[in-house]
Amino acid sequence: MGCCGGGSDSGGSDTKFQALSARWEIAPDPIGEGGFGSVHLATHRKTGKVRALKAMRLKTADEREDFHNEVLIMRKITKNHNICHLLDAAEDARYGYIVMQACSGGELFDVITRKGLTEREAALAVVDMLSAVCYLHGKRILHRDLKPENLLYKDTAPGAPLKVVDFGRAVVMG
Ligand SMILES: Nc1ncnc2c1ncn2[C@@H]1O[C@H](COP(=O)(O)OP(=O)(O)OP(=O)(O)O)[C@@H](O)[C@H]1O
Ligand SMILES: [Mg+2]
Repeated sequence: MGCCGGGSDSGGSDTKFQALSARWEIAPDPIGEGGFGSVHLATHRKTGKVRALKAMRLKTADEREDFHNEVLIMRKITKNHNICHLLDAAEDARYGYIVMQACSGGELFDVITRKGLTEREAALAVVDMLSAVCYLHGKRILHRDLKPENLLYKDTAPGAPLKVVDFGRAVVMG
């Protein structure tokens, strides 16, 4: 994983993603957006596997520090059924990049607002969320931003597991 030694890239808009483009082919149209930047699909050039890439604008020293914290915490998380784990990371002068498993099933938030959940689906969602929390707390990681927007279905198959994303507010208990 090549990451976070500081920005060697000039970071202009034409160089966005360049820090990762040797390893990943990145789709320009985002699949998710927010105040932080955008999330894109990224295909690994060697394996052809499709992942999600979160590109975060780093305008201030605080934003860069927050990005480093998010990467540091995600590195403590190994493969887990209910958490999107880190696969690659990099940064340049303007952006920090996090590559993780892609969840194509969408946010729990959208499912709740669009059609609601059956009692069984709600129970399964709680089990998945608590399973992730249990794993994280075992590593003394507090997510601190658990909400339906940060719980994504792995895919659209019936019974697909929910996965926790977004470690932007997470901390490790000393
Ligand atoms: N691994 C992923 N696979 C698919 N979509 C994703 C993935 N990670 C994030 N997204 C989409 O992008 C959205 C924003 O990502 P994330 O929650 O990590 O950012 P954020 O820090 O919450 O941004 P903001 O605070 O502006 O909402 C998610 O709610 C989700 O819709
Ligand atoms: Mg979020």
